[in-house]
Amino acid sequence: VNSRSDRPAASDPVGTSKDHRDGPAIVVLEDAEAVAAEGAHRVRDSMARAVAARGSFRLALAGGSTPKKLYARLADEAHGDVVDWTPVQMFFGDERCVPPQHADSNFGMVKAILLDAIDIPGANVHRMRGEAPDLAQEATAYARGLLRPLDLALLGIGIDGHTASLFPRSDVLDETISACALVDTPTPGTKRLTLTLPVFLETREILFLVTGAEKAQILRDVVGGPRRPQDLPAQSVARRAGPVTIVCDRAAAALLYASP
Ligand code: 6PG
Repeated sequence: VNSRSDRPAASDPVGTSKDHRDGPAIVVLEDAEAVAAEGAHRVRDSMARAVAARGSFRLALAGGSTPKKLYARLADEAHGDVVDWTPVQMFFGDERCVPPQHADSNFGMVKAILLDAIDIPGANVHRMRGEAPDLAQEATAYARGLLRPLDLALLGIGIDGHTASLFPRSDVLDETISACALVDTPTPGTKRLTLTLPVFLETREILFLVTGAEKAQILRDVVGGPRRPQDLPAQSVARRAGPVTIVCDRAAAALLYASP
């Protein structure tokens, strides 16, 4: 198997806080398919552990394009009847402010690839209503319905260093109370709903999926670069105190082990 688990050499000095000394665990695999397979395996493993320990599995899903292959794998496995989705409470890390039928909807994407293929009680799927007439109120309602702490949050990293919809230099990065917020995106006129840093910091396990050469520089900056929490929100989650695993392909990992 072409895989290795390793820790990159951080280019900043080792922190004094033991919290981040080791950094995230990094798993480098051959390509995006292998990343999806590993991701699906880890989701199922996390699910089994949570259900055994607590009787339920609180999962937050990522949007964007990278996790689509993982969701397809979970859907395939469901056809074999291996996964019992009944104890799963499915949340979303973020959502674009569009209706669920819209091509940009994270829920729409997950529904088409995963939800339509599995047997999960409708009440267990907690979507952010991106089409809500009062989006600030929707954020408040979503925060109220969130089951905390989450067991697992799947996340991606944007080339600007965002994760979920925590964008660089956004006011939401200073949020310490609300679990869900309405935010502006760097694209003028577009808004999103997102879970906030306190939620991701308390989540039992974080799993980032990162693929493609275009992510190589940002992955290096997030994992081993100087701490820049306002510029690189993904860094605050990736280098948090609790368990974090980054599963990436070789292309995205290309600069991780290069000398500065
Ligand atoms: C979204 C996300 C977002 C995503 C990154 C990476 O709704 O877009 O949740 O944070 O994970 O932008 O996106 P890609 O996987 O498309 O590169």
